[in-house]
Formats: sequence, C-alpha cells, structure tokens
Amino acid sequence: MVTDSSTGTAVDSVEDEARWYFTGSDPRHEALRRNPYPFFDRLREHAPVLEVTEGKWLVSSYEGVNDLLKDNRWSRVPQMSEADMRLADRVFLRNVASYDSPDHERLRKTVAPAFTAAAVRRRGELIRQLVAEQLDAVRELDGFEFYRDFAFALPVQIICRLLGVPAERQDDFLTWSQIMVEAQEPGVHTAEMLEAADVAAAQCLEFFEELIEEKRRQPDDSLMTMLVEASVAEDSKLSLEEVVAMCVALHVGGHETTANLITSGIYLLANNPEAYRAVQADPSQVPAAIEEMLRFEPPARNSLHRIAPETMELGGQRIEKGSEVYGLICAAGRDPEVYTDPHRFDIARPKNRHLTFGLGMHFCVGAALVRFEANEVFTALAREPRALQVDGDPVWRNSFIIRGLHSLPVSWE
Ligand code: HEM
Repeated sequence: MVTDSSTGTAVDSVEDEARWYFTGSDPRHEALRRNPYPFFDRLREHAPVLEVTEGKWLVSSYEGVNDLLKDNRWSRVPQMSEADMRLADRVFLRNVASYDSPDHERLRKTVAPAFTAAAVRRRGELIRQLVAEQLDAVRELDGFEFYRDFAFALPVQIICRLLGVPAERQDDFLTWSQIMVEAQEPGVHTAEMLEAADVAAAQCLEFFEELIEEKRRQPDDSLMTMLVEASVAEDSKLSLEEVVAMCVALHVGGHETTANLITSGIYLLANNPEAYRAVQADPSQVPAAIEEMLRFEPPARNSLHRIAPETMELGGQRIEKGSEVYGLICAAGRDPEVYTDPHRFDIARPKNRHLTFGLGMHFCVGAALVRFEANEVFTALAREPRALQVDGDPVWRNSFIIRGLHSLPVSWE
C-alpha cells in the first residue's frame, strides 16, 4: 500500500496505478488525471521500464525514454493485417508517424520543407495577424474561457490555412479528426465509436478528394498543393489515402497539442507570478519560458507506441517481439537524475533538453511552427498591460496521449 502525496489517498500498488493510468478505466484514475507527477516518481523509482499488462510496457525514466525514441530499430507500423483494418484505421494510420524506413522518409520529405524554421518565418505575418485578432477578441472581456475562446482557434486556423482548407469547412475537418482520434486511443472502444470513426473517415476522404482535384486544377502555395505534387512525383508517390492521412496527422498532431501548450503555459505563468513578471519585464525571456512550459507540462504526454521488431533490451528488461512500448514523456521531464528540483517551474533552467517533441526519425515535424506560434502568443500576452489570472477550476483532459486543460476560466488582473 502506498499513499499518493497529492491526494493523501491510499493506493494498492504502483502496478495498479500504472494500469489505471494506462487504461483510464478506474474511477481512482481521476486523481491521476489531475496530477500524475507523484505517481510518475513512484513508478520511476519502482520500475523505470514496467510491463503494465501482458506485452504492453511503460517507460518512465529520462534515460529509458531517450533510448527508446532515438533507437530507430523499434517499429511504428501497426500490427494489423490489411484485412483487419477499418476505413478509419487506413485514413488515420497511413501517415508518416506510422511508417518505418524507407516509407517513412518517402512521406516525411513531402512535408518537412513546409515546416523548417525558415518556411515558418515566411508565414510569420499570417501567424502574427491571427494572434492579434484572437487577442483583440478577448481584451475587453471581464472574464473568458482561455482554452475555448483563445488558445484553440489559433492552431486550428493556422494548420487549416497552411493546408488550404477553406474556412467554411474547418469545423467539419475538426469534427472528423476528433472522432478518428478518439477511436485510436488505447482502451475500450464501443462499436458505435468505431462506426462513427469510419463515417468520419469516409467524409474526410470525400472532402479531400474534392480539394485535391481543386489544387490539381489550380495549384497555389498551400501545403495541399505540395502534397498533390508529391503524390505524382517519381521519387515520392503518395496514394490518396496517404495524402489524406498526412493532412489528418498534421491537423490532429498540430492543433490540440499547440492549444494545450498555450493553455498550460498561461496556467503556469499565472501560478508562478515571479516568472510572469519576468517575461512581462523582459519579453526576450519568452523562448526560455516556452521550453520550460514544454518540459513541465508536455502536451503530448506519452510517445506513440513502439513495437519490438525482435526480442529487445531496454533498461535491463527483456521485451519480447511484438510487445508495445510507450515512452512517458511527462515522466521523463521530471526525472531528478536529469533535472535539479524537477517539480519547480523555472524559466531560467539551464540546459533544458526536454524530450517533448520526441527524438530520432519521428521527431516532431511541427516543432519550429509550435515554437514560433507560442513565441508570438506569449510575447503578445507579456506586452499586455494587465496579466491574466486564473478565475475558476481548471479541467484536465482525459486522454492517454494528450495532456492539457480543456477548461481554464481566466480574467484580466
Ligand atoms: C506543442 C505542440 C506539439 C507537441 C508537444 C508535439 C509532439 C510530438 C511528438 C512527441 C512527436 C513524436 C512522437 C513519437 O515519436 O512517438 C511528434 C511527431 C509528429 N508531430 Fe508533433 N507535436 C506538436 C505539434 C505539432 C504540429 C504543430 C504539427 C504539424 C503541424 C505536428 C506534426 C507532427 C507529425 C506529422 C509527427 C510525426 C513525425 C514523424 O513520424 O516523422 N506536431 N510530435
């Protein structure tokens, strides 16, 4: 029996907690959702590489997550046979994150040029303008819902603009992506959820088929045109499902994570007034503050799973062929072996080499875009004459992969 220091409640064993965390199936999981960090400390101390249920492993030390993600021998290819794949699986899973070499490189090179730091800077004016519009919309409000009214719309609009999705179809695309993501989370899926995911996938395919046709007829400077051109280029050749899966991956990978970073970031600043005052006094500290936000509350809290292509060794554990391994990025970011006083939010932290964007061949394509967007947002907020304060109970999202606040009531001081 151990006690959770954040809630004071007794829990049966670290293994039990790990199972609740993994499946989200136990009501006691609620406390883990709000504050999983004391559990991560117990887990890391107990077993940094733990088999949570048969053939499913969790890795909680920095060293373990680092070793897992940088070792490109681990596979990302889904273990489903072609016949077992539903339409939603095909549309969702045929993306760059679910391929090994050499297909991974074939897909990645079609989008990577659109996300380099230089390419992002070229879109800087658009991003700046969207941030200014969002801020104008909330500046005069007495109180507002930070996630819904400010943080969420921004990355959705940016990625849709990059993809060339017309404004009037952005809500549809968002709904389809959300339904498909839900059906891909680990845990129990009802027949209705799977059915809904297939319907969403079909609508998504239909929509993109039309958009692709339009971009073929009238090429522009959108990412969609780049993908359409890549789909026929001799050295890349993407299928329709791959083009659509890439769009969904960029949308899904890019909007909620970024919105969560912005929301967790303001929550952290509001709860650490010294840090808030420091960035207000000197906005050049914003990039360092963003790196600390990324370490402290990683918006993608766990890596996507890796599959053992043969019997593998990790952190002294023997992992059988076909097993699934998840790197707990959230836990790695609080490892006392790497970070002094890891549970302290410290924007002046030296050598903040977090794993929040992953590592190795699947390192986040959108990292430069995220850093640019977050820099624009927090610099603009730092320049506001008034600071934001938390004005109600925050609500954390219930997801194995995503970490973020789905509700954060705030007001201007
Ligand atoms: C704060 C925001 C974000 C975070 C924390 C984040 C995190 C990550 C992580 C951890 C991975 C690697 C997963 C693994 O190896 O298991 C990843 C991959 C990826 N991310 Fe992001 N991401 C963010 C934003 C974005 C944005 C804005 C985009 C695109 C617009 C994006 C697109 C992708 C794609 C396509 C991959 C797969 C790359 C590959 O397999 O080669 N992400 N991201």
